[in-house]
Amino acid sequence: MIWSALAIASATLGVGLALVALLRWLPTVRLQLVGLALLAVCLPLGAVLLSGWVMFHMGDDVKILAVSAASAATAAVAGLALAQSVARSVERVRRASVSLAGGDLTARAPESGPAELADLATSFNEMAQNIGRLFDARRELVAWASHDLRTPLANMQAMLEALEDGLAEPGDYLPALRDQVRTLSVLVDDLFELARIDSGQLTLELRATPLADVVASCLRGVAAEARHRHISLASDVEGGVRALAAPDKIERVLFNLLTNALRHTPSDGSVAVVVQGDGREIRVTVEDSGEGLEPEAQQRMFERFWRSDRARSSRGAGLGLAIARGLVEAHGGRIWAENRPGGGARVSFTLPAAQGT
Ligand SMILES: Nc1ncnc2c1ncn2[C@@H]1O[C@H](COP(=O)(O)OP(=O)(O)OP(=O)(O)O)[C@@H](O)[C@H]1O
Ligand SMILES: [Mg+2]
Repeated sequence: MIWSALAIASATLGVGLALVALLRWLPTVRLQLVGLALLAVCLPLGAVLLSGWVMFHMGDDVKILAVSAASAATAAVAGLALAQSVARSVERVRRASVSLAGGDLTARAPESGPAELADLATSFNEMAQNIGRLFDARRELVAWASHDLRTPLANMQAMLEALEDGLAEPGDYLPALRDQVRTLSVLVDDLFELARIDSGQLTLELRATPLADVVASCLRGVAAEARHRHISLASDVEGGVRALAAPDKIERVLFNLLTNALRHTPSDGSVAVVVQGDGREIRVTVEDSGEGLEPEAQQRMFERFWRSDRARSSRGAGLGLAIARGLVEAHGGRIWAENRPGGGARVSFTLPAAQGT
């Protein structure tokens, strides 16, 4: 008797495992669930029937077969209903993904149904939202880039036409033409730098960089303009601080912050650079006594092509801080802006300190 029971139990286990393996080959979730429901009912029933026949020579076959058929049918119906509802939730996410793939960036999946499927729909919606945001940013970037490229090109064309028509002497327009070419090449260089930052192809030759040298070189670069506009320039660099950084990139960041500070500070104002280190991190701050930052500027000034309405007529393209952020983050640092308590803006960034600072 014990051997028959063991044989039936192992046969049931074997058949169950084989059928589960086969179920996985069914083509839809719906069929798999119905199959699972049938299996869950029929297999134990089959085992009970077999035991009855083998062990007790039971004769009530018809009744037992009727009970088996009824419970199998119930299981199939329940499985089908459950499969239908699961399949409907899956189908909603599938339909949204087909629309998204077809270019409809507003496609979203309803976040309902069983927890796992609701989570799937939530992740899908977040992904769709991020893709939409990226597309908007790209559209804006192209719009602003073409606008900023068109302006100097139109100016140059007007000057060249005036020269062709003999309305001016070449010497009259040469400096202006050179200025326009410079504007264009700065813009193209900036766009190129941004593209390299985006694609992760930026190569940073990191070395222990004494920040006093970087600050001195940038201050030299803006000294003439500051003198011309009667703006005082000051620096306070903690002795011996060295950052693990690519000096040319850090110079570019600091130069942009200084140019911005000068641009937004009226005559007789002041601009200062402060460098402090705490052994792990070095903080560089550029402060000015200018107009300060409006709440929108504080939030958006690091976006590409963003300029405040006040600054829109200025010569900048609105790329400097976006590049600065890309470069600082590529060094593993942070950059942020705030208003100074006494008026004016303060933009700071951090860099990792070089060993032994
Ligand atoms: N020190 C500051 N004070 C007030 N506003 C500032 C200051 N620095 C930046 N901003 C605001 O942030 C905007 C973006 O600065 P960003 O350096 O990216 O561009 P830009 O200086 O206008 O042009 P670019 O740097 O490409 O020549 C500026 O146009 C200005 O509105
Ligand atoms: Mg700038």
